[in-house]
Amino acid sequence: MRRVSRNPALAVVLVGGALAISAWAAENPIASKGQGLVAIGGCQGCHTANSGAPFAGGRAFETPFGTIYSTNITSDRDHGIGGWTEADFERAMTRGTGPGGKRYYPVFPYPHYALASREDIAAIWTYLRTIPAAATEAPPNHLLPPFNVRSLLAGWEALYLHPKAPEESGLDVQARRGAELIAGLGHCGACHTPHNRVGAEDAARPLTGAMAEGWYAPPLQGDSPAPAPWTAEDLETYLRTGLSDHHQAAAGPMGAVTAELAQAPESEVRDMAIYLSGLMSQAKHPAPVDQAQAAERTHPEGAQLYAGACASCHDVGSAMLRIGRPSLAVGTPLHEDRATDVIMIILKGLKSPEGKAGPDMPPFANSFTDDEVTELSAYLRARFSREPAWKDIQSAVRAARKGVT
Ligand code: HEC
Ligand code: HEC
Ligand code: HEC
Repeated sequence: MRRVSRNPALAVVLVGGALAISAWAAENPIASKGQGLVAIGGCQGCHTANSGAPFAGGRAFETPFGTIYSTNITSDRDHGIGGWTEADFERAMTRGTGPGGKRYYPVFPYPHYALASREDIAAIWTYLRTIPAAATEAPPNHLLPPFNVRSLLAGWEALYLHPKAPEESGLDVQARRGAELIAGLGHCGACHTPHNRVGAEDAARPLTGAMAEGWYAPPLQGDSPAPAPWTAEDLETYLRTGLSDHHQAAAGPMGAVTAELAQAPESEVRDMAIYLSGLMSQAKHPAPVDQAQAAERTHPEGAQLYAGACASCHDVGSAMLRIGRPSLAVGTPLHEDRATDVIMIILKGLKSPEGKAGPDMPPFANSFTDDEVTELSAYLRARFSREPAWKDIQSAVRAARKGVT
């Protein structure tokens, strides 16, 4: 594409061509279906670097294999996938193998995309063809031996690539579509399912909760520790907006997921919500509690920090509670089996979805020492839950600090 800038006449022709293509995308029903599916697949978030062109790649991922960069999937012929055939694309999405037999690392969630229907993959391909070419090359990967040898991934695949479709018996049409999207394009298990040391998901324990990007993605089935039940209605609103009336706002990587799902078709998100509420229907919900005095006696330092830095927003009578945002007692994080999410929220704060007015919490990473974050977390747990105290909060704080600068 660099040639273009030296030839203004050709540039005009190409720009004109690009406009014609995107207008065509808006009118082509298959391309616009593909656009909605791309929002469910989260392709843009992973394939766009900070302030980079959309879908032009270059975002870094820390994995058990080393640092891997997402690639350029625009229609650029030299740097993107403009020279691919539809068959090349389908093979990449379902087998994790590119043209010439190049094997992909499973940070590209193709083990999930393998469960998508052929029609959905074809629609995504049609949409991707309409994305303007960007002549950006992704930085080279930094991989640890032996993982730098891509062909060894064939062994990984033979061991672990057995995509398992969810159990569908007894589900109605909507829940079946929801199950297919959650396990397939939505790749929710990439974060919510436990992984082994080489990055493969434990197929026997889908959606039972796992660490993801330094956060904890909680269980989304019968083990869900949420105090308030997740109804299909709550889930639909949460997935589309990052907020629901009875649950805490989506934080960390889940905020990014909901920002993309906001662009997905309502009916598809509703189907996912219907299926997920069924999966979570067996959860036991701990009753919300507020044991302020007892917690203050056992954790005086945490109580003091809370009174000074948090109560103005989170306590009874605060503006936030008066506008109907839930109290800390009903949020899931304080009921999880580890302190990770509470620590991450204290360190990083919480941003309302981009471009929207919504709940905002300032980051406290520079205000508190590790000991203070530890005391505060222990106090919140004692005050707002009846579950056992968290063990070794201190190491969780140290681990969280590494990812927060
Ligand atoms: C969690 C992050 C993530 C998501 C979500 C994701 N990708 Fe990727 N993708 C990657 C990474 C990282 C690579 C590079 C893998 C490698 O180098 O082995 C990649 C590689 C690819 C490739 C191979 C490109 C090439 O040049 O060889 C294609 C095609 C692709 N992704 C398409 C998609 C599509 C379509 C979606 C959405 C349905 C998607 N990806 C979602 C991270 C992601
Ligand atoms: C990139 C990682 C990632 C992906 C992908 C992801 N999640 Fe999450 N999710 C998280 C994390 C981390 C949290 C906890 C953060 C918080 O408490 O806000 C979370 C929280 C949630 C919650 C709130 C649960 C509760 O009880 O509070 C729901 C519901 C949820 N995710 C559903 C989904 C669905 C459905 C998908 C797939 C469409 C999905 N997630 C994909 C990381 C992810
Ligand atoms: C300026 C107001 C503000 C301050 C100060 C503040 N927060 Fe928050 N906090 C918020 C908002 C807004 C949310 C998102 C609430 C929602 O809508 O779900 C939130 C969410 C949270 C959550 C996740 C939700 C849940 O139920 O678990 C935790 C934990 C939390 N805050 C802890 C703290 C702690 C600890 C402090 C003090 C160090 C603090 N906050 C200070 C505004 C604030």
